[in-house]
Amino acid sequence: MSILDLSPVVPVVVLDDPDSAVPLARALVEGGIGVIELTLRTPTALESIRRIAAEVPEIAVGAGTVTTPQQAEDAVKAGSSFLVSPGTTPALLDAMLATGVTVLPGCSTISEALVLREAGLTELKFFPAEAVGGAPFLSSLGGPLPDLRFCPTGGITLDSAPRYLALPNVACVGGSWLTPASAVKSRDWSSITATARATVSALIQ
Ligand code: 3PG
Repeated sequence: MSILDLSPVVPVVVLDDPDSAVPLARALVEGGIGVIELTLRTPTALESIRRIAAEVPEIAVGAGTVTTPQQAEDAVKAGSSFLVSPGTTPALLDAMLATGVTVLPGCSTISEALVLREAGLTELKFFPAEAVGGAPFLSSLGGPLPDLRFCPTGGITLDSAPRYLALPNVACVGGSWLTPASAVKSRDWSSITATARATVSALIQ
């Protein structure tokens, strides 16, 4: 599986309450989104991944913010079908690859991208996209490294997403705009479905 070909848009989710995991995933599916990246930024993230993997087969659930080898192992045991890291160390990359699931290791410089390419990776996360140069940076990277494809995340919005998706080396964009903290907290699933629908119709032909 290539996560970059799954969907041009990847919701990056920070979730505190695991009871919200399944209704949130269903709201995204209802809005036409078939992938969700649950960040390991809350103590309950693995439980949320477990519940989505068990109860919402229509969505591919992966773990984001994977920063340690142990987290990579735990996230896959919980049911993650892909792993995303904000940046990459050799030990982290080894652990992510050892799980056997699809990996999207993060980078933010040309040298980091080169190190990952030397390890055989051609699909990378670019983070934090807006803060480190945004679409112009990725466009420049396409000259010397045309074989790499990126999923930029970090500061991207529905308005800025098309600028990224227009680049030949960008296959998808990720972000938290699809699941705003206020809507998640108030369990406003219909507004999350509406945002997903608006995003799909704006970004996916
Ligand atoms: C990530 O981990 O990819 C980012 O936190 C998503 O960035 P955003 O919250 O600025 O969209």
